[in-house]
Amino acid sequence: MTTTPDPMCDHRQLIVVANRLPVRNVSDRNGQHWVSSPGGLVSALAPVMTSRPRASWVGWSGSAGRAPDPFVHDDISLHPVELSRADVQLYYEGFSNGTLWPLYHDAIAEPAYHRTWWDAYLKVNRRFADSVIEIAEPGATVWVHDYQLQLVPGMLRAALPDLHIGFFLHTPWPARELFLRLPWREQVVRGLLGASLIGFQTDVMAHNFRHVVPRLVDGAVIDFDDQTVSAAGRSTVCKRHPIGIDVERFAEAAAEPDTAAAVEALREQLHRPRMVLLGVDRLDYTKGIAQRLRAYGELLDEDRISADDTVMIQIAEPSRTNVNGYADIRAEVEQLVGEINGKYGTMDGPAVHYLHRSHDFQELIALYRLADVMLVTPFRDGMNLVAKEYVATRYDDTGVLVLSEFAGAVHELEQAVQVNPYDTDGLKVAIERAVRMGSDEQSRRMAAMRSIVAESTAHTWAETFITELESE
Ligand code: F6P
Repeated sequence: MTTTPDPMCDHRQLIVVANRLPVRNVSDRNGQHWVSSPGGLVSALAPVMTSRPRASWVGWSGSAGRAPDPFVHDDISLHPVELSRADVQLYYEGFSNGTLWPLYHDAIAEPAYHRTWWDAYLKVNRRFADSVIEIAEPGATVWVHDYQLQLVPGMLRAALPDLHIGFFLHTPWPARELFLRLPWREQVVRGLLGASLIGFQTDVMAHNFRHVVPRLVDGAVIDFDDQTVSAAGRSTVCKRHPIGIDVERFAEAAAEPDTAAAVEALREQLHRPRMVLLGVDRLDYTKGIAQRLRAYGELLDEDRISADDTVMIQIAEPSRTNVNGYADIRAEVEQLVGEINGKYGTMDGPAVHYLHRSHDFQELIALYRLADVMLVTPFRDGMNLVAKEYVATRYDDTGVLVLSEFAGAVHELEQAVQVNPYDTDGLKVAIERAVRMGSDEQSRRMAAMRSIVAESTAHTWAETFITELESE
């Protein structure tokens, strides 16, 4: 009889490698100290990591300059990797977010190809790999995350072939012809193939990756049944492993009496609108915020929605402000908000409440509970956890999710009102439909989506990935 290993009771060393550490340094009246960063990856991995002895996380602290010495936070050993100011400019803002980010998001913004950026990417990936090599015990499990660190699996495999090396891509993997534009495409693919398991958010992304390999690596063979790619005597499983959220945390917070009180206070502040529409995004050109505002503005112009009884809230968290394209999208969004509010705002308040700052967990939960319609309309997104978070808070099966056809989440949340975000008229129809949807239909759709979100949580995602990796 074979038994499935339980990743929570394993004694193997687990090392997570991600661009950012799961903590950030804050300075307040208690002085300077580290606090856990909010975010899906941290809450997904924390339970499996704290259940293991000697679990470590290798990552960047978020500040340029000398890295702090390794330290322990919430039972996890943290190993900061140093990035100089030049590394931040060339590796993080440059190759990661000026080349790979736009390329992997369907080239919505033009990717820039600079050899100096690539050199820095190679150098910083080497530094992350060396940091792992320094602490890895024989047979350790190493899980590398995301597009910033695609060369690390190959570097680790070359140095320590007995490691269990896994990689998960949080962003989309692009279509073949797009990826092939990358001048360093072969090095990236060979780097990834150092892993024995590569997880993608959707089947299409895994398929796109498998099919690009034989184009770049001589003798590579795809096994369609096992979803593997074999090259140079090694095989790599490349398959869908969609990330989930900490459903209990969101559902429980949503049902708290304090949340109900906060929602009531917000409703009062907004003068009790009949309908609240909400968008929650990083201010990124992939998220389709301007297109969404344009659609909303036109619906107001055409009197298909009235600002007398409807309010839109757009949270736009500041992000990557030094990277090309981000200042432009901010200017465009703010101009549109200004135009809409100039036309439809009153002394009682604006038609669009635009908040260019981040919000803490409690504030977000209250906003999700307040929203009758949640607008998640990116041009391209690996998954989009906001869509899942909204669903998890709708314990009474009310509310409507409008979801882009190009967000990974749509492959699971099929009951959302699906839209093509490039089609402004289609977007308008979808918003109008959401605003007018009756309670029976809302509840049927939301109940179906809630059970899907509850089935594959952040914890099950981490556990199944690690179990599969360690059984390779
Ligand atoms: O979606 C990819 C991602 O790297 C996330 O993991 C992260 O939360 C987000 O983008 C923000 O990225 P950055 O680290 O560049 O602020």
